[in-house]
Amino acid sequence: MTEIPRGSLPQATFFELVGGEETFRRLVHRFYQGVADDPELRALYPEEDLGPAEERLTLFLMQYWGGPRTYSDERGHPRLRMRHVPFTVNRAAHDAWLRHMRDAVDELALEPAYEKQLWDYLVYAAASMVNTPG
Ligand code: HEM
Repeated sequence: MTEIPRGSLPQATFFELVGGEETFRRLVHRFYQGVADDPELRALYPEEDLGPAEERLTLFLMQYWGGPRTYSDERGHPRLRMRHVPFTVNRAAHDAWLRHMRDAVDELALEPAYEKQLWDYLVYAAASMVNTPG
């Protein structure tokens, strides 16, 4: 059994605070609707069916924010920059990705402090994925 020191409470994770799996599923589902309707960005995604990509991003974000570790059980260490190397992530792709993510975040209507935490992370992570100038 895990011991909980007297006078302290187990900390809720960000994953739990924003509504758990359902919230991340809504976020990423909405994001991929945007991708599906954006021919330029859509062209980067190799699979005809966006469903598996949606599942991978959902599981990754759930794990990142303290939820179940299913992503790594299925895919191993994230190494996201390396996994993006096969794709041309230039400024335009970065901007489009973030634009669809912004719409998806807006629709969650989270408390402002949580929304900011999530958004700041996504902005930072998207910048770190750019691998092609121009
Ligand atoms: C900056 C713009 C980005 C573009 C254009 C982009 C594009 C892509 C593409 C084309 C794939 C392959 C689809 C698939 O097979 O899963 C992919 C996979 C993935 N992306 Fe991105 N991505 C971007 C940013 C991000 C960011 C910021 C994150 C995390 C916060 C992320 C997380 C992932 C994950 C988890 C996968 C699946 C990796 C795997 O397990 O194979 N991506 N991305």
